[in-house]
Amino acid sequence: MVLFKNIGQLVTVGGKTPKMGLEMKELNIINDAYLIVENEKIIDFGIENKEFEESNFEKIIDVEGKVMMPGFVDPHTHFVFAGDRSKEFKMRLQGTPYIDILKNGGGILSTVNATRESPEQDLYLLSQKRAEKFLSYGVTTVEGKSGYGLDKKTELKQLKVMKEIDEKEDIDIVSTFMGAHAVPKKYKNNSGGYIYYLIEEVMPEVIDKNLAEFCDVFCDDGAFTYQESKKLLIAAAELGFKLKIHADEIKNTEASQLAGELNAVSAEHLLKASDEGLKSLKENNVIAVLLPLTAFSLQEKYADARKMIEMGIPVALATDLNPGSSYSQSIPLLLSLAVMYMELSPEEAITALTINAACALDQGDVIGSIEKGKRADLLIIDAPDYNHLFYNFGVNLVEKVFKNGNLVLDNNLNKRKI
Ligand code: NIG
Ligand code: FE
Repeated sequence: MVLFKNIGQLVTVGGKTPKMGLEMKELNIINDAYLIVENEKIIDFGIENKEFEESNFEKIIDVEGKVMMPGFVDPHTHFVFAGDRSKEFKMRLQGTPYIDILKNGGGILSTVNATRESPEQDLYLLSQKRAEKFLSYGVTTVEGKSGYGLDKKTELKQLKVMKEIDEKEDIDIVSTFMGAHAVPKKYKNNSGGYIYYLIEEVMPEVIDKNLAEFCDVFCDDGAFTYQESKKLLIAAAELGFKLKIHADEIKNTEASQLAGELNAVSAEHLLKASDEGLKSLKENNVIAVLLPLTAFSLQEKYADARKMIEMGIPVALATDLNPGSSYSQSIPLLLSLAVMYMELSPEEAITALTINAACALDQGDVIGSIEKGKRADLLIIDAPDYNHLFYNFGVNLVEKVFKNGNLVLDNNLNKRKI
């Protein structure tokens, strides 16, 4: 057993199901607390008003009056890719719209070329480095999407890389198949043919090899239509995938309505979602995954998080790390944008990046809050109060990261602890 003692503020967040409305503000904090881990799970926690028999513990960790909280969960990223699109970033700064770059054969398609050419081992090393950086920001579980292959071989290569990182590295990975990320050159003007290829030839193999739990589609202007997305997702559900949708990011294409109609676990982006779309999310218990770093990078208006929370839609946050629209994995910047520009309270932002993010990965009963029986994925924040995560903006305050109760990263040492 491991005892964490002298915790100044234990931010438990609490719960196993998505929080909505006013619940998003409840962090269930215990001041001057202890926490006990056994067999990689949280088995007890509470106010530290008794002396512990120290010989009962293999390890005792003094939290020195700092904040302890659940590990962050990032439920939307595209972290497995090769190549560099910094030139496109400059074009966008000079006014070229993101989607025009894709329509002219760049954007996602440029990353596809680089990812196809990258040997699996190189792709592993690039992606592992990003996974490591996530961990240093306190992200203990991260979702990753394929979608930079757009052919069977490369899509499987991306998913295999994610599986290997999940097995070998300290961070947990949840994999999503996103072959429908763009129409590849080979199928130019034949997106229907590409959807058919994915359904018939690629998705059954992804399921057989147990390479992804979710299926996602970019249902938007310049990508896939409502009807194409619907066809793909219905086939995905039949094969056993859980569903996610990149919805209404560039234009409103009624993708949010589709998410509701198909009972997707989450709808993501939602910059241009309509009131009808949001109503459909609410009625069908779909989680809204919002991506402030993407809106920032695209210089677009942020998603209307306040409206969603007021409607009772559970809101989660994610980085959307990718080489085009959001080349950042900065959790500090994400949290700041959420409170400064999306008008989330600090409490709502923390809920959105912990329990609601876990629920967006269908893992609300395992991670995302401090509860007895949950996986001991925990952070020590170098501050006396969680509000410092916002007050001391742009700075990584994560001091130590514990995965399954074991110390896996200490930012003070500035290097991994083996
Ligand atoms: O979430 N919208 C589609 N996919 C990514 C961008 C991918 C890219 O530009 O490489 C996104 O924004
Ligand atoms: Fe994305």
